[in-house]
Amino acid sequence: MKSVIVKAPLRCELIDVPIPEPGPDEVLVRVVCCASNPRDWKAPDHLLPGVEINQGNEMSGFVESVGRNVFEFRKGDRVAAAHPMQTANGTYAEFATAPANTCFLLPPQISFEEGCTIPFAGCTAALGLYQRLKIPFPTSPDNAALQPPLIVYGGSSALGCFTLKLAKLGRFKKVIAVCGSGRAYVESLGVVTHFVDYRKGNVVDDLKAALDGEKCFHAVDAINDGKSWRQLSEILELDGSISVYLPRLDYSSIPSSIYVGITFFGTVHGQPTPGWDRRCEEDVDFAYVLFRLFGKWLSEGKMSGHPYTVLPNGLASVEDGLRQLKEGLVSARKLIYRVADTPGL
Ligand SMILES: NC(=O)c1ccc[n+]([C@@H]2O[C@H](COP(=O)([O-])OP(=O)(O)OC[C@H]3O[C@@H](n4cnc5c(N)ncnc54)[C@H](OP(=O)(O)O)[C@@H]3O)[C@@H](O)[C@H]2O)c1
Repeated sequence: MKSVIVKAPLRCELIDVPIPEPGPDEVLVRVVCCASNPRDWKAPDHLLPGVEINQGNEMSGFVESVGRNVFEFRKGDRVAAAHPMQTANGTYAEFATAPANTCFLLPPQISFEEGCTIPFAGCTAALGLYQRLKIPFPTSPDNAALQPPLIVYGGSSALGCFTLKLAKLGRFKKVIAVCGSGRAYVESLGVVTHFVDYRKGNVVDDLKAALDGEKCFHAVDAINDGKSWRQLSEILELDGSISVYLPRLDYSSIPSSIYVGITFFGTVHGQPTPGWDRRCEEDVDFAYVLFRLFGKWLSEGKMSGHPYTVLPNGLASVEDGLRQLKEGLVSARKLIYRVADTPGL
């Protein structure tokens, strides 16, 4: 089968490899669509230099076979799934593997294109909101309780939008999104009460104006550019919490009384968070529950995928997609690929 290897400096190679076998707790998926994430170019470029593998983590398709411990999925099921980061058999390929805890059945009305935008960013957003900021999960009796304001820095990023969609399942006094040209889509979600444009004015002053004296204990920093968490530190109460998403950075400028929850998608597959001593073993079963609810919420219209652009030529366009992400050209959308569009397949 064909598989895309991501190399550094950024370049992709389409190679022939054997079709993988699923592990005991995995499904093997015949990939119909796969999606790109910023980490896919960052990993070989500077996070883990020298490791050149298929970096895809998100996909939708048909179950081809299942491992011996998998009892909920069977050949032919339409699914969306997340593949463990930095492991073999990634999703930029004709076939890819995923643990069953990060796989869900796609409701019939949800397309493969929409489905493949959800597993990675949707799951990471839920980890940040519920496991690190400890906002009540939608099944908690406390979910009906009114929460203090929530700030989502990078509201139009995939991570930000899924955080906002999940926030809509709860109750917040205010939901403040920091975004720029992606505002229109964020507005359409119908959950944000106040917008701050990071390209104009003074973000800290604008956040203070939006809070209008309300205390803020919870912030999501989906941008992590240094400026973002320093600005949020000026706004958060000293016993507040912030969820950050780039584990290897130095967050020591955030006052020590503020809880810094490092959200790392790998914990749902039992991987340790780089530079953090917490193992977050509970995240494995959290993802299991979440992925089943993703299917249900999608079927009920309570959840939706991220807007997307399908690049032409399937897997042959992964390099172009990753380059667009690297150059910051993508606003409020996912770049996705239909495997069947790959020339020669
Ligand atoms: N720890 C993990 O496991 C994990 C998982 C997923 C993602 N991440 C990381 O989280 C970050 C977001 O990922 P993503 O996939 O959600 O990214 P994305 O969708 O590609 O982000 C693009 C968005 O970023 C917004 N943006 C750029 N600069 C901004 C700024 N200064 N302030 C506010 N918004 C800004 C743009 O907003 P406008 O278009 O509105 O200008 C654009 O819509 C990345 O750094 C990624 O590596 C980490």
